[in-house]
Amino acid sequence: MAALLAANTVAFLRGIDAPWLLGTVILVDMLVVSLSVAATLWAVAVWGGQSDVSEARLAAIVESAMDPIITVDAQQTIVLFNRAAELAFRCSREQAIGVPLERFIPQRFRAAHRGHLEGFDRTGETSRRMGDSTTLWALRADGEEFPIEASISQAGEPSSRHFTVILRDTTPRRQHEQMLLRQQRELRELSARVLEAREDEKTRIARELHDELGQLLTALKMDLAWLRERLPAADGELAARAATMGALLDRTVASTRRISADLRPLMLDDLGLADAATWLVNDFANRSGIACEIEVAGDGAFAGVDGHVATAIYRAVQESLTNIAKHARASHAWVALNAADGQVYFEVEDDGRGIAAGDADKQRALGLKGMRERVAYLGGTLEVTRAPRGGTRVSARVPARSGGAA
Ligand SMILES: Nc1ncnc2c1ncn2[C@@H]1O[C@H](COP(=O)(O)OP(=O)(O)O)[C@@H](O)[C@H]1O
Ligand SMILES: [Mg+2]
Repeated sequence: MAALLAANTVAFLRGIDAPWLLGTVILVDMLVVSLSVAATLWAVAVWGGQSDVSEARLAAIVESAMDPIITVDAQQTIVLFNRAAELAFRCSREQAIGVPLERFIPQRFRAAHRGHLEGFDRTGETSRRMGDSTTLWALRADGEEFPIEASISQAGEPSSRHFTVILRDTTPRRQHEQMLLRQQRELRELSARVLEAREDEKTRIARELHDELGQLLTALKMDLAWLRERLPAADGELAARAATMGALLDRTVASTRRISADLRPLMLDDLGLADAATWLVNDFANRSGIACEIEVAGDGAFAGVDGHVATAIYRAVQESLTNIAKHARASHAWVALNAADGQVYFEVEDDGRGIAAGDADKQRALGLKGMRERVAYLGGTLEVTRAPRGGTRVSARVPARSGGAA
């Protein structure tokens, strides 16, 4: 530039004397001017091209996105509608662009939606999840509603503000969730039916053992007594054999009673929950050597309790006591059983080593899981916690009348 300036000055001063110098300088000047114009044009072209490229790249990303993307202007008119949006809303881009966003929102949510968008505008936040934890609904072109999850972002000056919504059709996930819930319900029902069938079978065997075998054994005992009376008094060996037989018969009767009671306390059917539970607790204390107390409401309290519910509670108390004998290393156990306001409550507690976190979920352990399932099936809840005195506490509430099992 300095050289050019110097050349121009010299040419201006000596122009008259040296026309060749003047001509040369004018030519050079023209050359420089046209070169800079060309350079400027080139730079503008390159810059413009670049922004075209990045715009095209962005459009391709939006177009290939798996999730529907919709952009609206400040008036909430649709200005962008990608391929996924076309599929989700069953509406072509040509039909969507230029249309108010409300077209794709169920009627009853439109006013609220408008309010939300204006609120979002005022906050000045750049993006956020829509609808918090509640389900949002969208409307397909053919009138079908579908649940969505969505996030929204905004950009631009207030006058030319644009909002972009990225959403996801959660119908498949909901269907999946519903299928899982249905399967869970069916499995629970199935396991309840299996348990019921097992209970019925046990009851039948218990009855037969008790009635049939019990009567036969009693008859045998009477016959043996008859024989013993008539044995020759002189034969000591015969008398001793007969006495042993008598003792064996007594043990057989006792075993039969025990096996029958283990299978199913017929008392539960004959005497009711309160007496059966009391018998269970006393029997447990005798057999295990663990001091066990029971606090039980009078039998009248359980008058309205369904047979299935009584069985489930009896079995739960039985399993809890068995667990205490097997795992707790306790010296004391407490059982409480009562009924109020159409609910039956029970609690089994011990002063043992306490149940460790995760114990109930052990893979092969089915006792607590079965108990919980059975109680849940009957519409109740069961909790296994650490007791205040250090051991384990199983507590449950079950509706006295079961809706689930008939
Ligand atoms: N009263 C208890 N005290 C301490 N641990 C317990 C008690 N009851 C249950 N547990 C623990 O919980 C686990 C699961 O119990 P359960 O489901 O009844 O299965 P199982 O008795 O067949 O092991 C037991 O293996 C034991 O470790
Ligand atoms: Mg167990």
